[in-house]
Amino acid sequence: MAYATKVRYSLTPAFAYFLSTIMTPASTMPWLDTYLLGNTLIDATHREFVEAVNAMLAATERASFDICLDAFAAHAQRHFAEEDRLMAESGYGNAKCHVDEHHAVLTSVNEVRVLPDERRFAVGRRFAEELARWFPGHLDAMDRGLADWLVQHATGGAPLKFTRALGRR
Ligand SMILES: [Fe+2]
Ligand SMILES: [Fe+2]
Repeated sequence: MAYATKVRYSLTPAFAYFLSTIMTPASTMPWLDTYLLGNTLIDATHREFVEAVNAMLAATERASFDICLDAFAAHAQRHFAEEDRLMAESGYGNAKCHVDEHHAVLTSVNEVRVLPDERRFAVGRRFAEELARWFPGHLDAMDRGLADWLVQHATGGAPLKFTRALGRR
């Protein structure tokens, strides 16, 4: 069941509105260098994902949230289509689960976008928080395998990843 569908059953409009009036500004989703997978295209897209989620988390009223939600939807379409294409073109063997998970997120985004005005902001904010929780697991379980496969497919070797050592200059 897609996320927005689950939320629909657990949040009445009145409760969703109540939440929207008492919720403190949502926390941000920090970028972590551990998200880097060594593929320039995928890494750049993942930075955009974090920025798009943060924009939704930072929106404090309905109109600005709607703009950020639309921007995230456009990002997600491109992000997932890009990875789906890379899997298809390279003959990646573990594509089905990965593609299915992308599809589930896109379905949820679209469900949130068509919610009535009075519910979309509150439910959408919860959805953005859920995306922030979902992303690290998806990256580790699926995107990392794809990035490694793309290097192996192209060169026969494993990708090189350069990250900063925290606390050093
Ligand atoms: Fe990704
Ligand atoms: Fe992915």
